[in-house]
Amino acid sequence: MRGYVARTLSGHYPILVSNRGPHEPRPDGSFRRGAGGVITGLLTLAEAMGADWVACARSDAERALASKHSGGHIVPLAQSSGQLYYATPTKEQYEMYYSVISNPMLWFLQHYLWDLASEPVIDDRIHQAWTDGYVEVNRQMAARVVGLARGASARPLVLVHDYQLYLVPRFVREELPGSVIQFFLHVPWATPQYWKVLPKEMRDAILDGLLACDIVGFQSSLDVRNFLLTCEENMGLQVDEHERAVVAGGRVVYARHYPISVDVPMTMRLASSRGVERQEAEMGALRPAKLIARIDRTDPSKNIVRGFIAFDKLLRYHPDLHGQVQFWAFLQPSRQDVAAYSRYLRHIRQTAGRINSEFGNEQWQPIRLEIAESERKAIAMMKNFDVLLVNPVYDGLNLVAKEGALVNQTDGVIVLSENAGAHEELRGNVLSVNPFDVEATAAAMYAGLTMPAEERHRMNEGAKNVVRTNDIAKWISNQVQDMRDLVAPAERISLRP
Ligand code: G6P
Repeated sequence: MRGYVARTLSGHYPILVSNRGPHEPRPDGSFRRGAGGVITGLLTLAEAMGADWVACARSDAERALASKHSGGHIVPLAQSSGQLYYATPTKEQYEMYYSVISNPMLWFLQHYLWDLASEPVIDDRIHQAWTDGYVEVNRQMAARVVGLARGASARPLVLVHDYQLYLVPRFVREELPGSVIQFFLHVPWATPQYWKVLPKEMRDAILDGLLACDIVGFQSSLDVRNFLLTCEENMGLQVDEHERAVVAGGRVVYARHYPISVDVPMTMRLASSRGVERQEAEMGALRPAKLIARIDRTDPSKNIVRGFIAFDKLLRYHPDLHGQVQFWAFLQPSRQDVAAYSRYLRHIRQTAGRINSEFGNEQWQPIRLEIAESERKAIAMMKNFDVLLVNPVYDGLNLVAKEGALVNQTDGVIVLSENAGAHEELRGNVLSVNPFDVEATAAAMYAGLTMPAEERHRMNEGAKNVVRTNDIAKWISNQVQDMRDLVAPAERISLRP
């Protein structure tokens, strides 16, 4: 990334704000890179902008590290001129913010995961977690940003990321009215009706937080439309659909979509690294004639259980595939502190176990389920699938679909949910499915496995080209372009070639 975006808004002091930090200390004091694809994207952004980074201390190790460096920066950011700073809520505050509000409430709302006939039940525990956890941690994160910005002479450019931090822009705007504030949401924006599941004071505070921004960025054009509609419907604000803007408190707030993507050269380098090749060699010995793969966090939004049910159907309808096909599910454990997630993981294991005992024999197990984390193994699988199943219920983007398209070397076909953010760009080069329709998903997997070679090649190349063209550099430069055009006065801004 260095050299081709960089130092985007001269005369500004960029500060990136996210819940999870880019380097997480282990209890032994060493560091590992923050988990997840989003962090990779944000590291590239921080590097391109030369930004400092404010994250939340999430663990005892992070809290201990932060208290050692009270007031000052914690660690320099790798490959970047910026520094990492922490806000340090108490463990109780963090749990209310993260494990009561952000994940079980906001994540569930924004991925439409509730069975509304019985959930959520918004009781005093949730009201308290909102006030003492979510609002409080957002306030502390904003205070950290304000403290840093006050110590600098340049105009603050605050880049806030994701649903954990909706209130940060308002708190920052109150203290630093002249700053440029952009928010980027990595998950879907739900419809106005669905937002009404949240009590009015919560959903209004969320919108009010975002309306303190100059630009609010989303993954897809549908998210932009849903956001504008929510402003109109739930807050009675004046929206200009053509300009994709809303007027709030006498200020114009723009809504734009910037689908996140991968760093193409870096991902290709990783794909041809020794570590990945070693994984491939190990897998080679086990590879079935036909390989269906999925790589996901064990998140209910990923729809892993319905994926197995669809595979069950495939085996039922096509006995000729028995012994030939295998479904490799490589799943990363996620948010096991939230009850719905640990229940979901049990459901995944039970479903795979049932299918294996029904169809499998000593020579052949239809599903190979591995719950672990290894970027190299994930990339090795992406290089070799015949079908990659990405069938989320609803999802912000699904970087795995883009990574899989880019690195695959076997003319693999992607079966992609029409409700994944990446579908907007990849449709035409994937087999689209309704993620709830297990019959259609089974049929799409079958079509992917049996498609003529030229057709598989055409789709695979088409998908690769989409990713190569819309890479992470484009994600960043489109945002910078909008900040230049829509917000900051042009004479103060220069783009480094
Ligand atoms: C995924 C989502 C992001 C989210 C992140 C948080 O990567 O796409 O939108 O911010 O998870 O994950 P965490 O494990 O930190 O809760």
